[in-house]
Amino acid sequence: MAGLFIAFEGGEGAGKTTQAGLLHERLRQLEIPCDMVREPGGTELGEYLRDYLKSDRPLSPEAELLLFEAARVELIVNRVKPSLESGRVVIADRYSGSTVAYQGHGRGLDLSSVDTLNRFATFGIRPNIIFLLDLDPVEGLKRIEGYQLEFVSNLTGDLYTPDRNEEGRRFEDLSLEFHNKVRWGFLFQAQENNRLWKLINAARSKEEVSKEVWSHLEEPLSLD
Ligand code: TYD
Repeated sequence: MAGLFIAFEGGEGAGKTTQAGLLHERLRQLEIPCDMVREPGGTELGEYLRDYLKSDRPLSPEAELLLFEAARVELIVNRVKPSLESGRVVIADRYSGSTVAYQGHGRGLDLSSVDTLNRFATFGIRPNIIFLLDLDPVEGLKRIEGYQLEFVSNLTGDLYTPDRNEEGRRFEDLSLEFHNKVRWGFLFQAQENNRLWKLINAARSKEEVSKEVWSHLEEPLSLD
């Protein structure tokens, strides 16, 4: 596919949205055509499912998995695939690695079923590079309370208007044990495929993190 597909992954409060926003802004300043998407969301069905998924309304782990995948299909078909095909850079705030970490390792669902569904829902479209913003969940959860979406408000796309305070807390409120499993689920994926995944220490300032992110992109963006 012609474009470049970049995904940000990581646990709660690791700064994915901030970093995705900073990168999007930087690419726009360089006049590199780019789009930003978030999961779940980014389409009419995706935003509808996001509300349910983030609320504390009843949901079995299996149905949760299928809803994330349904939201993903819509996002790929309507946003990601057309953008990549037209040669644009796509920045994803979460992708299928989150499903492996949260529903697979966190909820304990069968990893090979998660993998099969991920392949089905993504049509085999994989990022060219995945940044894992790794942070101890104790630190990440602490950050959430004071979370600011200052960067997001600058972004284009009227579907991209999260207001964290109005969203539910299905995942944030789970135990530390759950969030530690999610963290190891991400680290495991990064270790299994360290060419695709770039492990980033997210305990640093947003400037330091974004500098490191950028250093991995100069070559794929042919800027060096
Ligand atoms: P979001 O507000 O985007 O969280 P964050 O700002 O931490 O990225 O909410 C998405 C939530 O959905 C987050 O708690 C992680 C969870 N999630 C999964 O459990 N599985 C998935 O496949 C995806 C994409 C997200």
